[in-house]
Amino acid sequence: AITVDPSAQGAAIDDTMYGVFFEDINRAADGGLYAELVQNRSFEYSTADNGSYTPLTSWAVGGTAEVVNDSGRLNARNRNYLSLGAGSSVTNAGYNTGIRVDQGKRYDFSVWARAESGSTLTVSLKDTAGTLATARQVAVKGGWAKYKATFTATRTSNRGRLAVASTNAAALDEASLFPRETYKNQPNGLRKDLAEKIAALKPGFVRFPGGCLVNTGSMEDYSEASNWQRKRSYQWKDTIGPVEERATNSNFWGYNQSYGLGYYEYFRLSEDIGAMPLPVVPALVTGCGQNKATDDDALLKRHIQDTLDLIEFANGPATSTWGKARAKMGHPKPFHLTHIGVGNEENLPKEFFARFQQFRAAIAAKYPDITVISNSGPDDAGTTFDTAWQLNREGKVDMVDEHYYNSPNWFLQNNDRYDSYDRKGPKVFLGEYASQGNAWKNGLSEAAYMTGLERNADIVKLASYAPLLANEDYVQWRPDMIWFNNRASWNSANYEVQKLFMTNVGDRVVPSKATTTPDVSGPITGAVGLSTWATSAAYDDVKVTSADGSTLLSDDFSGDASKWTGSGRGSWSIQDGSYVQTDAATENTMVTAGDPAWKDYDLHVKATKKSGK
Ligand code: AHR
Repeated sequence: AITVDPSAQGAAIDDTMYGVFFEDINRAADGGLYAELVQNRSFEYSTADNGSYTPLTSWAVGGTAEVVNDSGRLNARNRNYLSLGAGSSVTNAGYNTGIRVDQGKRYDFSVWARAESGSTLTVSLKDTAGTLATARQVAVKGGWAKYKATFTATRTSNRGRLAVASTNAAALDEASLFPRETYKNQPNGLRKDLAEKIAALKPGFVRFPGGCLVNTGSMEDYSEASNWQRKRSYQWKDTIGPVEERATNSNFWGYNQSYGLGYYEYFRLSEDIGAMPLPVVPALVTGCGQNKATDDDALLKRHIQDTLDLIEFANGPATSTWGKARAKMGHPKPFHLTHIGVGNEENLPKEFFARFQQFRAAIAAKYPDITVISNSGPDDAGTTFDTAWQLNREGKVDMVDEHYYNSPNWFLQNNDRYDSYDRKGPKVFLGEYASQGNAWKNGLSEAAYMTGLERNADIVKLASYAPLLANEDYVQWRPDMIWFNNRASWNSANYEVQKLFMTNVGDRVVPSKATTTPDVSGPITGAVGLSTWATSAAYDDVKVTSADGSTLLSDDFSGDASKWTGSGRGSWSIQDGSYVQTDAATENTMVTAGDPAWKDYDLHVKATKKSGK
């Protein structure tokens, strides 16, 4: 039985408790949330981004055309342009199966072009079945200028192609096609269905832009002269201003990122969906497969200054240097930044913390109201994590970002993780977590776990499932919360769980107590949590019964979890010649009775809770 005492005061739950974590992984930005339909619009794809790329990736040439990198370029940050021969054309294939257009909807084309002797561009939308919109003609003359045309789709197609043909020689760059309809109809906006799915969660915050994306490359030179080089770190200043001046870059996840979805757009999205923006800046120590820390003090100082400038970009008056940059982009009012993360999953806790302290001191001196969030490194359940936490505690950090990806059973077993966290220590930002899968049982295990987060809402202040988005044809990481391709998007079970929690955030925890043995009654086919109960050191006298009440497994185990865990999986002998086994790949626990084929049983688990837990 569960006893609830409505008069007791549990922890207050912040409205911002549950949020989302957006990282440009799985083509979450270009070919995803960023509504641009043209892939490789500025001809900047490079083998440095991905071994299979060329500057003409996603483009087909009719006649003569070559990508040129010379002083005739559009600007210093947009190195390549297309030199198109007289009577030639180029055709873009977009993402996935092609450019998606919907009958009756409008699409805005734009291109930067140069044709000293003048030329006429014919711009068309078509698929293999024929035309998708009336072609448009654009007269080009003289040096670089931006030209525009609008289409209304006459048919719906998932396989559209954008073609640009030129009567005379012309140079082209930044060839773009946007649906007129974007989320909240913002310019340079977001794909409506994806943004609406995010908005429907009613997230309390948006953590961005990563993830591993944040620190990687942060030790590289990023002087202005190097800003077209690949594998620079993700620098917020590279991602603002006119899109044709945002130098594209290699993405940590193995593709090119246009930065069309940049810091201004992240802040705007957060505002549009009523969420707190929570940017993460590089700490100049890498994790994510690299273990390096910079000794370049000047570089560190520059990143610290960039972080101060970022706060000014978000919050400063329109008269300040960076506030002016924000106002120029269309947002004179501040974005109300209150929290900022420094670093992501650093594997060198001491090196990280020494640098974190410098960031924190500089931010505190200028912006004492900003909460600076530190990191715990990857949750390796070992020394890195423990050392990081110790340093964070000793250093009186406000909040620590934790990350972990584990089996559903782990999430069930560790519901009490935060019950014992030091209430006087730093608060927790659970910046990334997910059980390994998008199945129903994964959502369920996360829901169970989230009750533990909520019970500890006095210490766990923010939590976000990760990653948020995945284009099904370009996946680097799974599971993910929202899936999509060029024509549709769909929610995972995990999404529904997040939505349930985010749209029903309570004000205060009502303390409750389980006064009898936990009874996972009802069918738990596939034994969700069976091994959880059984292996948890918190339980003795475990009994597993089938639906008809016959005992399949029982033992007191004397609280010796090791008897059960072993490798954490495997077979255990039980009565009647049956045995319980966890499938190593799926972590589904099944019962079989001398039959090698897996069978689903309705299982009921009873266990005595050990005292003291
Ligand atoms: O969410 C995917 C990745 O997992 C993130 O980039 C990184 O922080 C973590 O390791």
